[in-house]
Amino acid sequence: MSGRQGNEGSDPVRNRQWLLKTRPHGLPSPGDFELVESELSSRDLKDGELLVRNRLFLCAPTMRNWMSGQANSLFPVQPLGRPMMAPAAGEVVHSKHAAYRPGDRLTYFGSWSDYEIIAPAGGNVSRVADDMSLTEAMGPLGLNPQTAYFGVTRVAPPKPGDVALVSGAAGSTGATAAQIYRLLGARVIGVAGGSEKCEWLLKTCRLDAAIDYKNENVRDRLKSLCPDGVNIFFDNVGGDILQAAVDHMARRGRIVVCGQIASYNDDATAEGPRNMMRVVYGSIRIEGFLRSDYLEHVCEAVGRLREWMARGEVVHRIDIRRGFSAAPAVFADLFNGRNAGTLLIEVDIKS
Ligand SMILES: NC(=O)c1ccc[n+]([C@@H]2O[C@H](COP(=O)([O-])OP(=O)(O)OC[C@H]3O[C@@H](n4cnc5c(N)ncnc54)[C@H](OP(=O)(O)O)[C@@H]3O)[C@@H](O)[C@H]2O)c1
Repeated sequence: MSGRQGNEGSDPVRNRQWLLKTRPHGLPSPGDFELVESELSSRDLKDGELLVRNRLFLCAPTMRNWMSGQANSLFPVQPLGRPMMAPAAGEVVHSKHAAYRPGDRLTYFGSWSDYEIIAPAGGNVSRVADDMSLTEAMGPLGLNPQTAYFGVTRVAPPKPGDVALVSGAAGSTGATAAQIYRLLGARVIGVAGGSEKCEWLLKTCRLDAAIDYKNENVRDRLKSLCPDGVNIFFDNVGGDILQAAVDHMARRGRIVVCGQIASYNDDATAEGPRNMMRVVYGSIRIEGFLRSDYLEHVCEAVGRLREWMARGEVVHRIDIRRGFSAAPAVFADLFNGRNAGTLLIEVDIKS
């Protein structure tokens, strides 16, 4: 991984940070953030802390929930005037923690900064294995594919012949979930926006069918593709697609609620399906989950994903954007579908 800062080895280091300036209404824009520059020194380190250089940031849709000012996520509300919190990967530059040394490569909950001070505690920092690149740790073997693995294998594993419907199917989490369903014997239908993504789902991910929700009627397509209904719906999106799926679930169907991205830019909270009696009469189970529910099984998930990917049975697209200064604009691409797979920001040389 490249990305030298131009102040390599110096102490203090120059440090750019993107602060959240105002709480966004609707799609976040660069104007909601402020780019500042200051200095950070190893002298600022306290016992038990690390000074890390950030190399990669994951654009995670739930960061939009942290910005909203409502505590509707596991994480605390993102404070105004502070660097935007983000899943990050980087390396230790200075250490005042007995278990870490300069050069150690880590993933952690960081923030949009060139450098920062973190305090490893309670599993908030993970080491990147020697045989894994930082890009692999954040992309194909990272948080989203692990989430997909647990959602499929733990929350709603398929029975032979099940029809599995996946929304956000061309995205980082959705594409992995859809392919794992295919591998485990389900007939898989993906829902995604646009013909390029749908073609990729059919040709590269080898799904049985793809519905372009931007140009097709999801309800009509579901009726013709699976007249007997959907057995499993893995939902990343919510809203109208969730409603169409609920209305078309087979008896004893299972709905895995992984995310509700369609509502993250609303000031209101995500709404559920309108006709809950459909859930009663269909004996349908709706279950939300978090990747963090399964932390003790992460090694299993990474091992299985690695095997499947090495054999070409699961493919993963990464969309890496170079340039720290574009971070807010890149993040917004998650919400207009301009990302093609796991959206990463690579921290660049400061000019
Ligand atoms: N439960 C957990 O522990 C957990 C962990 C990680 C992620 N998640 C959730 O998983 C979901 C996917 O996250 P990701 O990081 O993998 O992102 P992603 O799917 O790679 O990117 C987001 C995609 O969502 C789709 N989208 C955005 N707005 C939409 C809308 N209004 N209606 C329909 N589709 C829309 C876009 O695809 P199209 O071009 O197809 O519209 C976009 O490319 C999110 O809901 C996230 O919160 C949950």
